Amino acid sequence: MMRDGAIRAFQGRRGRPPSGNFELYSWFFMRVSGVVLLALAVFHLFWMHMVIGVENIDFDVVVQRWTNPLWRLYDLFLLAFALAHGMNGLRIVVDDYVHRPGWAAAVKSVLFIVFVLFVGMGAYIIFTFPLTAAGAALR
Ligand code: HEM
Ligand code: HEM
Repeated sequence: MMRDGAIRAFQGRRGRPPSGNFELYSWFFMRVSGVVLLALAVFHLFWMHMVIGVENIDFDVVVQRWTNPLWRLYDLFLLAFALAHGMNGLRIVVDDYVHRPGWAAAVKSVLFIVFVLFVGMGAYIIFTFPLTAAGAALR
């Protein structure tokens, strides 16, 4: 039964023993970032589907949107919160299911590298994308 499986997974936790308050803050971060994402991600979807319309999205639309630094900032927050929330969530899933310490450390290292790499790549795009509509000529 799914419930038994979940209980076994919980009892089988072999995560690092809590050191300091890290796990407490991590738990609190999931709650806060969950609420933040509820606003950011749902509004992102609403805007792309209802206001712009997915069939209208092309390079020029993004150029137009990103002439406004507030949209860039919005996308940066969405990127940072969604990835931090998702990767930290996966870290908890690893604690639940990957019981060998070596494998757990390896998988969590990959998660961390993916997090740093993708936030880096995404932020790089957001900050360096042609700053004005005229920049579109650069493509
Ligand atoms: C509407 C936006 C979202 C809300 C309100 C939300 C809320 C939450 C909350 C409150 C938790 C913690 C649950 C707990 O303490 O047991 C959580 C866990 C998690 N979230 Fe989200 N989340 C949202 C979006 C996302 C997104 C976009 C991703 C993927 C990038 C994601 C991936 C995860 C993962 C992997 C976990 C860990 C699950 C686990 O511990 O078993 N969430 N979410
Ligand atoms: C079908 C659904 C979606 C559509 C059509 C869509 C569309 C877009 C478009 C056009 C952009 C380009 C930047 C801009 O114009 O603001 C963008 C960026 C972004 N979207 Fe979405 N999106 C969708 C779903 C999501 C979801 C579910 C998430 C995460 C929860 C997400 C996270 C992001 C992030 C983080 C960026 C900025 C990435 C960067 O440039 O670094 N999107 N999206």
